[in-house]
Amino acid sequence: MSDLYARHRAVIPQWVATNYSEPIEIVSGKGCHVTDGQGNSYLDFFAGILTNMLGYDVAEVREAVERQIASGVYHTSTLYLIRSQVELAEKIAAISGIPDAKVFFTNSGSEANEAALAAALSARKANQVLAMRNSYHGRTFGTVAVTGNASWKASSNDPFGTHYLHGTDRQLPAYRDLSDAAYIDACVEDLRALLTAAVHPADVGALIAEPIQGVGGFTMAPDGLFSAYKEVLDSHGILFISDEVQTGWGRTGETFWGIQAHGVTPDFMTFAKGLANGFAIGGVVGRGDLLDGIRGNGISTFGGNPIATTAANATLDYVLSHDLRRNAAACGDIVISGLKGAANDLAIVADVRGKGLMFAVDLADPATGKPSPALAARAMEETKARGLLVGKGGLYGATLRMAPPLTLSEAEAREGLALLLDALRAVDARAAA
Ligand SMILES: Cc1ncc(COP(=O)(O)O)c(C=O)c1O
Repeated sequence: MSDLYARHRAVIPQWVATNYSEPIEIVSGKGCHVTDGQGNSYLDFFAGILTNMLGYDVAEVREAVERQIASGVYHTSTLYLIRSQVELAEKIAAISGIPDAKVFFTNSGSEANEAALAAALSARKANQVLAMRNSYHGRTFGTVAVTGNASWKASSNDPFGTHYLHGTDRQLPAYRDLSDAAYIDACVEDLRALLTAAVHPADVGALIAEPIQGVGGFTMAPDGLFSAYKEVLDSHGILFISDEVQTGWGRTGETFWGIQAHGVTPDFMTFAKGLANGFAIGGVVGRGDLLDGIRGNGISTFGGNPIATTAANATLDYVLSHDLRRNAAACGDIVISGLKGAANDLAIVADVRGKGLMFAVDLADPATGKPSPALAARAMEETKARGLLVGKGGLYGATLRMAPPLTLSEAEAREGLALLLDALRAVDARAAA
């Protein structure tokens, strides 16, 4: 065990998970590559959990932040006007597609979801929430409650009443063999039944859902499910919160916001992670009347501070001016089609899925067909040994999930695919031996 890892274990809570039997310290980065404390370099296919959205050491972001630092002002609080915050809110409101949108900035995705839930529940004078099975929405009190993935639930305390919908649990025997249309029908009928039998619709504030479940292993409902749900929700006035913390900013390649794949304009979208390319930021964009409706005064001391919003403006401008959504589609296609093409020859690969630069591989024991966290752990080590950083997740911890910077080049997409396949073949050969 390295000295730093020993010190980490001594003072950081044991539930703060690290990757690898010997966790690495990333000490420098450029583009899509990083170097660890031992001098090993890696192609980064996880980007600090989708957060280094443009990669490392991006001049446009660095120079903008340096200019802000040189002004001497890192923080003022929202008691004073913050030009970079207003500019960022204007841009996000405009690209949200939400009519008369306003934006409230926070420091994290968890706080963003708390703010959206608060606005929805107060607008509806409600105390019940709908969420999806296998979801992850954060680690604060309310967001743990709407998280539907038991291994990420720190407690079962629930400040509302949370009801979990089907829609992302297609692996269950009752749903496995249904067509997309039949599955959507079954899920919508279940929602209707829930609102008839178990909870009064007038008590329900909102449905909160990730268009593609991040921690859940990039599992996703068939396109169209959320518009079908929304018809039912609209008939009762129930609001819809799309958690875009992982799916926003063009990452899925096909649309700018993940939820647009369903043809839905939600009442709120929450965001965080990549927006400031590594500086802490989160927020909620939503209908102005709803966000205005939260009772009482409110601040977030650091939320939307000049440094984070300056970095975010530079990052968002870069994403838009370089059309990184299109790049995500092209590079994602290289990796996803390459993985799908190779999957048949890999007995350990149970499924390959993804959209744009958000893709995943499920690993299963070839003998039993059951999800195998052990094989996923082995694949993590094998990719690391080959110089590729990937992530892990899924309901059973048996999914490799990858989300490189949106600036990935096509050559880097091919390089990463080759490293990944080489690692998977090594794990496959050992599993067969
Ligand atoms: C979809 C989603 N929502 C919310 C969060 C919580 O964000 P944060 O860790 O910034 O609080 C995460 C974090 O992984 C996430 O993936």
